[in-house]
Amino acid sequence: MTSPNGHRVAFPPDFLWGAATAAYQIEGGATEGGRTPSIWDTFSRTPGKVQGGDTGDVACDHYHRVADDVKLMAGLGLKSYRFSLSWPRLQPDGKGSGNEAGLDFYSRLVDDLLAHGIEPWVTLYHWDLPQALEDAGGWPVRDTAGRFAEYAEIAHRALGDRVRYWTTLNEPWCSAFLGYGSGVHAPGRNDGADALRAAHHLMLGHGLAVQAMRAAQPDHGLGITLNLYAISPQTDSDADADAARRIDGLANRIFLDPVLRGQYPADVVEDVREVTDFGHVRDGDLATISAPLSVLGINYYSRYVVAAPDGESAEPYWRSPSNWPGSENVRFGDRGLPVTDMNWEIDAPGLVEVLDRVHREYPPIPIYVTENGSAFVDTVVDGQVDDPDRVAYFDAHLRACSDAIEAGVPLRGYFAWSLLDNFEWAWGYSKRFGMVYVDYDSQVRIPKSSAKWYSEVIRRNGLRHSGSEGQERAQ
Ligand code: FCB
Repeated sequence: MTSPNGHRVAFPPDFLWGAATAAYQIEGGATEGGRTPSIWDTFSRTPGKVQGGDTGDVACDHYHRVADDVKLMAGLGLKSYRFSLSWPRLQPDGKGSGNEAGLDFYSRLVDDLLAHGIEPWVTLYHWDLPQALEDAGGWPVRDTAGRFAEYAEIAHRALGDRVRYWTTLNEPWCSAFLGYGSGVHAPGRNDGADALRAAHHLMLGHGLAVQAMRAAQPDHGLGITLNLYAISPQTDSDADADAARRIDGLANRIFLDPVLRGQYPADVVEDVREVTDFGHVRDGDLATISAPLSVLGINYYSRYVVAAPDGESAEPYWRSPSNWPGSENVRFGDRGLPVTDMNWEIDAPGLVEVLDRVHREYPPIPIYVTENGSAFVDTVVDGQVDDPDRVAYFDAHLRACSDAIEAGVPLRGYFAWSLLDNFEWAWGYSKRFGMVYVDYDSQVRIPKSSAKWYSEVIRRNGLRHSGSEGQERAQ
């Protein structure tokens, strides 16, 4: 809502303001409390896979500093905290009835959050498959879907009396295509057909988990988080439009359609015909995959600008040809916009496009932005970290959220990525996304200017000055 003078942007009274993290990225305590290795422990130990040879062994040492971290969140005034459960901490090796030490850790975290008035929001799977399950075939194998549903039930039984919001999977595109297609993420495999099988079994696991949790607690906010992209063709040629259609299919619709409509998009099935005949899809799978959800989580970072094949082109990792089975030769461009330290273009209008598109094209569902944020190079000066670029990024994207709400999108909350600087997957600790700076030697936490700014946004339930807040803080 914009006030008559066009300056103040207010959000709906019950808008859920949060911040997000993920287990492997912050916890550390990798061998404690019975935790066994995940695919990320193995991958990060494989030479050449993660920048600087970094691992999540210690990360932000959140496993030991959890009480202080909750105080930090309370100090910022967060209304909700989205965190993931480490599957190999909760159910070592992906089998058995649940590990008491792991369950205790999360149970204490949940109690502590609630004691501070912070709504816990659990993600069941943020990429850390128990290595034992990868050894048995990983996500390309159907059985992994059943294992996931079993793990979900264990977690939900232990925490479902206090946790009302449950996200099954975080960004299955990354698990399937970065993990099994290009192999730049764990487990580092490189096979297009496996990537498509993995995508299906991830969604099947999601559907089975939703069914089980729904049966136990019908009124819980159950959902999945997808990383969706705004997609634009580079030019208005038909060839570029077709390239954009293909990438939209493989990035967005290959998950949106099965989960929200119970069918694979026909054009995508056609595009990947040379790679797979979808023989891994069994009768009834799509009904399971489209089990009714109460919420949809959307992670938004940037846009894909796509052009038709035209010879060789070098691409950054997430655009690697092997991430796009059947459409390997499409090219990715840019719009010449400023970029973050990830080299991702800053494109807040793309967030409005994504939210609006889901609202218009799919059955109605309450939406939460479950991640949005930016990496920039941060420096500590006199014990402070001033990060005006990050403030401007959040400011622009929150204005986009407000625009979407004005346009009728049922957007109910926003989670900043991330609470803390953390292990940024293949980039190790070289990229800082946190609102709170982490000195990895001392583990001292320093709230950046963006944390203080966000805290004010939450307190006011809105933004103060139209488009100028970021610059104001920068001066
Ligand atoms: C998302 C991931 C999250 C983090 C951000 C920057 O794709 O879900 O863990 O890496 O990107």
